[in-house]
Amino acid sequence: MTLKYPYVKSTFTQHELGLVTELMERDNMTLGFSHSALCTEEIARRLDVPQPPQRVFLTPSCTSALEVAALLSGVGPGDEVILPSYTFSSTATAFALRGATLVFVDSEPGSFNIDPEAVRAAVTPATRVVIAMHYCGVSCDMDRLSAIARDCGAMLIEDAAQAYGATAQGQAVGTRGDVATFSFHHTKNLSCGEGGALVVNNPDLCDRAAILLEKGTNRSQFFQGLVDKYSWVDLGTSGVISEIAAAVLLGQLRRADEINGARIAGWNAYHAAFAPLEQAGLIAARPHVPEGCVHNGHIYFIILPDPALRPGVIAELSRRGISAPFHYVPLHDTVAGRRFGRVSGQMVEAHRAGSCLLRLPLWPGVAEHVPEIVAEVEAAIETSEVVA
Ligand SMILES: Cc1ncc(COP(=O)(O)O)c(C=O)c1O
Repeated sequence: MTLKYPYVKSTFTQHELGLVTELMERDNMTLGFSHSALCTEEIARRLDVPQPPQRVFLTPSCTSALEVAALLSGVGPGDEVILPSYTFSSTATAFALRGATLVFVDSEPGSFNIDPEAVRAAVTPATRVVIAMHYCGVSCDMDRLSAIARDCGAMLIEDAAQAYGATAQGQAVGTRGDVATFSFHHTKNLSCGEGGALVVNNPDLCDRAAILLEKGTNRSQFFQGLVDKYSWVDLGTSGVISEIAAAVLLGQLRRADEINGARIAGWNAYHAAFAPLEQAGLIAARPHVPEGCVHNGHIYFIILPDPALRPGVIAELSRRGISAPFHYVPLHDTVAGRRFGRVSGQMVEAHRAGSCLLRLPLWPGVAEHVPEIVAEVEAAIETSEVVA
């Protein structure tokens, strides 16, 4: 069924098409890796990450970037990785693949970002990594998380899959952890279908990152003229993006302000329109953006007052042509989460988000439709039956 208001809409224009066409007309599209090189320069410029040495690497996905981050961390059996339960499987599986034990902690109310107090309480002598996932493109409390990671000697990794273009205290999200990962999947603000980036902020890890991403070879040193041939020197994976995807991404990166700005306009329209519904108790909460954080308009969500309402509201909205999906099942409550991890502390907010959160259509141009969508949400809540 074609929905009047889908959750996601592509934002490709003639600009991206032109870049891809120009690339395909070349005799050798990989010559100089020009489009991926321009993408890494653009990301480095936006994040204000000085290069060289190379710190920004394009990857086939955020998942693959997280897997390389896990390799860089050196974790293995017996080591513990602290992460939010309320996140996507990729945040966890990258580290479970290395044999580490996952330690799931709760989120903060309002932003549903990892709760620094819960992280501190979860630290043990085996803690090696702390993961900050910036939910909805709203920065985690990086001051407190950095202090905790420093105190226990853990590596701090940012899963910034949703956060390209966001800032906190004027600094780009993705520049505070030892490494950070971004996603350019179809569902993200900027997309090349499938794609990602690894940003290495800790200078000690740059050389190894380049090797791990190049199938364990020192090929990037060869391209820089630092060695006269390249060979297999370490573990590695196929961590590079295709030039075709990079051409699409280049177009999107150059349009980041336009795309993010139009999404933020939609987000602001929702936030204003839902305020009276929150006051009336029809919805339990709207998103909270902490002081100093500038988000990128990635997700607008509402929290319903009762988990039993959600299935009916989703079905009713779908009947009215609106896609309003829920989000993560808290990882500690999943088959794999129980197998590869353990829980530390209470999971009040993770459960609340897991059972009461609803996401609304958000794409450039949605702002003008927000009054209609919010009216439909109100009607759907009022008419939906509570499913026991
Ligand atoms: C928090 C988070 N981390 C990682 C990923 C994985 O990103 P990708 O699809 O680019 O591998 C996602 C995807 O939705 C995500 O939301």
